[in-house]
Amino acid sequence: LRPPRATASFHSVSKQNSFGIAFDIDGVILGGKSPIGNSPIALKRLFHDSGALKIPFLFLTNGGGIPESRRAFELSELLGVNILPSQVLQGHSPFKNLLNRFENDLIVATGKGEPALVMSDYGFKRVISLDEYASYFVNLDPVAQYKRWTTLHESNGLKDFNELVSRSDLLSNKVQAAFVVSDPVDWGLDIQVLCDILTSGGLPGEKNGHQPPLYFAADDLQYQAAFPSERLGMGAFRIALESVFNSIHDKPLEYTSFGKPNPFVFQNAENILRNLLQASGPRNAIKETSNNELPSLKTLYMIGDNPLVDIKGAQQVHCIS
Ligand code: G3P
Ligand code: MG
Repeated sequence: LRPPRATASFHSVSKQNSFGIAFDIDGVILGGKSPIGNSPIALKRLFHDSGALKIPFLFLTNGGGIPESRRAFELSELLGVNILPSQVLQGHSPFKNLLNRFENDLIVATGKGEPALVMSDYGFKRVISLDEYASYFVNLDPVAQYKRWTTLHESNGLKDFNELVSRSDLLSNKVQAAFVVSDPVDWGLDIQVLCDILTSGGLPGEKNGHQPPLYFAADDLQYQAAFPSERLGMGAFRIALESVFNSIHDKPLEYTSFGKPNPFVFQNAENILRNLLQASGPRNAIKETSNNELPSLKTLYMIGDNPLVDIKGAQQVHCIS
């Protein structure tokens, strides 16, 4: 693996003379909340003067924590170009494919930002944030009194969209699945409560149930944020949780991780780029089309900074890297 600098071309699709680009966000386009280098100018060059898209591109990030529509709005503001929600693929975006399975089940979501709002936006009806869930169990967090920050669950709007989850519902029903939507904030609480849910079979305090499914949006060990050296990511949290869980439970932790470098994430990006290509052509608007009918791209480029995630993922679905 080479140092984190590569631009990888990853898929020769057809002989048509067109290409699309998937941009990583953290460490490539943004450092924290600030654009890196001339990224806004580079992105502007992908548009015609009229503002129409010239080159199909999207953002393919393992980050997240807010709905794609809101991220598109934030990116548009930060970068000075018009980004559509369909151009934003976040680590947790594939969670929407689990809607059929958990739509009406009690589920817990955790991570920075608004993890429960993200899941509710995908259509999950009985989702609650881990922070709020924990607050309903007396003495669940033995060090809560020493935490100098407060949880915002009373004011984050959760109650407005989440009418189907009541206190009695939570205290008597099992959690059917847990989702780590974005980078965890309070690792101590998250590890405690996830262990409670997962070792008990879904209801803290009970014993020996079957472990509910656990999903991670990504598995990045480290990532580039605003600090000069890399920061611990969701993969580091997964190792911490897994290590503790396996030390206190007789069966090893079972989980599924989404995000890059999974090949399906790149294949999905390719389909969306082909849709954007079709929509940017003459006479065309975005419409429902099967993948077979979409125009092909000669080359797809992934521009990323993480060899284990961006470059490895690109190489898996490609001819050239
Ligand atoms: O939490 C963000 C991170 O793990 C990576 O983001 O944009 O570099 O894929 P990105
Ligand atoms: Mg990155």
